[in-house]
Amino acid sequence: MDWRVKASIQKVLSTFSLGDKLNHLGSRLMNPSYMQQKLQYHINEALIHLRRLDKCGFRLGETDTFLELGTGYAIVESLTMTLLGVSRVVTVDITKDVKFDESMAYLNMLSENHVRLLASHSRYNEEEIWRRINDLKASASMDDFLARANITYIAPYSVADLRPYADRITVCYSQVVLEHIPEPVMWDIFGESRSWLVPGGYHSHIVNLTDHFRNPGFFRDNRITDVNFLKYSDQYWNAWCGNDIAYVNRLRFPFYVRMFNELGFTILDIDKQKDRDRMNTLLSDAEIHDDIKSKYDKAELMDTLWVQRFHMICQKSGADVRQHA
Ligand SMILES: C[S@@+](CC[C@H](N)C(=O)[O-])C[C@H]1O[C@@H](n2cnc3c(N)ncnc32)[C@H](O)[C@@H]1O
Repeated sequence: MDWRVKASIQKVLSTFSLGDKLNHLGSRLMNPSYMQQKLQYHINEALIHLRRLDKCGFRLGETDTFLELGTGYAIVESLTMTLLGVSRVVTVDITKDVKFDESMAYLNMLSENHVRLLASHSRYNEEEIWRRINDLKASASMDDFLARANITYIAPYSVADLRPYADRITVCYSQVVLEHIPEPVMWDIFGESRSWLVPGGYHSHIVNLTDHFRNPGFFRDNRITDVNFLKYSDQYWNAWCGNDIAYVNRLRFPFYVRMFNELGFTILDIDKQKDRDRMNTLLSDAEIHDDIKSKYDKAELMDTLWVQRFHMICQKSGADVRQHA
C-alpha cells in the first residue's frame, strides 16, 4: 500500500485529540499477540541496554536512578529496569499514554520464564522479584502502582521538569524515541542532560533511522526502501508527516555522533545495525534531496546510509568521573 495512504490516515487522526490513541488501538486490535510481543520486546530491550552498558564498564549499584526518554504506551521497560535492580526509574513523555488497566495486564502476563530470565541478570533473586510483582498486583490505581514500583512517570513533561534531578541520574536511556524528536528539541534535551547526569553517568540510546512506512504491518509500503523518505524536501515531507503521529526527523547517523561530541560526551560504544530481511536498496547521492544532503559531508552521509538502527553509549566526561563498583 502506498505510504501516503497511511500518512493520510495518520494526518486525519492527528487532527483530533484521540487520534494517536485510536492509531495505537488499531495496532492492538489488528495483532492479537500485540501485548505479549510488547512485553517480551521491552524486557529484551532493557536487557540489551544493561548488557551494552556493562560492556562499557557500568555496574548497577543499590542507589542508581535511571531516566527513560519516551515511555510510550507501556510502563514495561521502566518496570523491567526496577525488577533488574534499578533503584528508581524516572520515565517521561510528551503525551500521557500509560494506562492502569494495561499496566496491570502486562504485570499479570509475567510468567515463570520471564522471572527466571530477569533473575539471571538482576540484583534480585527469583523470590524477591515475585515478591515485588505480587506487591504490585495489589495496586489500587496508577499512582499506587508507580509508587510501589519506584517509578516516577512525568507526562507531558518539559526539560524544566527534570531540573530537580540535577546530578542524580546514572543512566539516561531511550528506545526508538530520538528519531521522533525535532532537532532543536534534541539539542535542548541533551544539552540539559549534562546537568542531570552524575559525573561519569551514561547515555544509552537505541535509534531507528529507517523510513517508518517500511515498518512491518498492515499498512506497510512494500515498494519503498528504508531510506525512501530522504528523497523528499522538508516542505513535502512535513506536509505529509509533520504531525504528532507520523513525525520523524529524518536525521542521519552522523548527526547523532556530532551532537554528542559537540556536547562534550565521550562516545564509548556504537553498534550499527542492518537487518538482512529488509529491503536495502540505497539511494544514489543524486536521489537524496538537498534539504537532507546540505547537513552532511557527502562521504559521511553516503557511507552510513545503510545504518537502519544503532545503539550508542556515551559518557559524561570530566575529571570527577564516578568509579563504578
Ligand atoms: C515509537 S514511540 C517509542 C515508545 C517506547 N520507547 C517504546 O519503545 O515502545 C516514540 C515515543 O517518543 C515520544 N516522544 C516524542 N518526542 C519526545 C520528546 N521530546 N521527549 C520524550 N519523548 C518523546 C513519543 O510520544 C512516543 O511515545
